[in-house]
Amino acid sequence: MNLRQLFDPVSCTYTYLIYQEITKEAVIIDPVFELYLRDKALIDELGLNLKYTIETHVHADHITSGWLFKQSTNSEILISSSSGATNSDRMLGHGDIIEFGDIKLKSLYTPGHTNGCMSFVDQNESMVFTGDALLIRGTGRTDFQEGSSHALYESVKKKLFSLPNSCSVFPAHDYNGIMSSTIGEEKTFNPRLGGELSDNDFVGSMDNLNLPHPKKIDEAVPANLQCGFREDGSLLSNYPKWARLSYAFAGHWDISSDELFSVLSLVQVIDVREKEEYLGPLGFIKGSKNIPLNEISENKSYFDQQKNYVFVCRAGGRSVQAIKNAGLYKNQNAASLRGGMIDWRANGFSVENGKD
Ligand SMILES: [Fe+2]
Repeated sequence: MNLRQLFDPVSCTYTYLIYQEITKEAVIIDPVFELYLRDKALIDELGLNLKYTIETHVHADHITSGWLFKQSTNSEILISSSSGATNSDRMLGHGDIIEFGDIKLKSLYTPGHTNGCMSFVDQNESMVFTGDALLIRGTGRTDFQEGSSHALYESVKKKLFSLPNSCSVFPAHDYNGIMSSTIGEEKTFNPRLGGELSDNDFVGSMDNLNLPHPKKIDEAVPANLQCGFREDGSLLSNYPKWARLSYAFAGHWDISSDELFSVLSLVQVIDVREKEEYLGPLGFIKGSKNIPLNEISENKSYFDQQKNYVFVCRAGGRSVQAIKNAGLYKNQNAASLRGGMIDWRANGFSVENGKD
């Protein structure tokens, strides 16, 4: 069982990608709409087959990308039957099992933050994904979305705290950058309901959290009640249209040699190798302009943000740095040739001045 913990710095949400090495079957827990491209890139780069998006609950602080994943990967969306959400593929109840590869996650109904909160524990009870029920040295708030402090106290004390002390806790958020905890630690040190703290102690704390109203709640809750469904596909339709590009987990757009060949007349190729390399035996692409990487920054004003550029180097590394230095990082009009001139030549595409 492999686990990747991904972070959204805007909402401080943790997204979890869990997968099995051999079968490559994967699930993603609580993915964030704006980070769909990042998460999809990681899934693609790891060669994973996404089976499910699992929502721990209807979030109030961000919109899920579950619907985007459903559209792009045929994955199914799973959420609690008590969530009130539509558009899911499977509604979960307490004790349901989610299987992928040889991994089994069991759903635990842990209401209180919302009425539809679920936690998920693996078959070895070595890790539990607690959503907003149990946070690290804290809990989710209970002052909106059918929240109930009494219910949350019961959920944590009876269901989560009955897991082994060694079980790692992975929450949906942490606002201090702490990544995980354990059930044993939280049982002892959680200042809201650990140790001898009673239901009344907990309610007393929860009634006085003095938290601001979540900024995105009016947008996020209605969207998440539809599992992130958007009629226009939004982000998906925002993919670059000038070529079939792929977004890299590193944060830039990539283009394959095949694709560059088919759009060559529509783009400006910028070759960032040194002058002697450019004129060396690998050759260069016809029509390309040679601006060595160390001269890109000083030529920033050359780049028109509206034009389409493909940056090229020997093997596809310096071209990524060149995109950054040109001020075009994450710009949909700039791509790096994946594998560089080596890949271009290996695919049999012609060059000027090249030698075999
Ligand atoms: Fe929440």
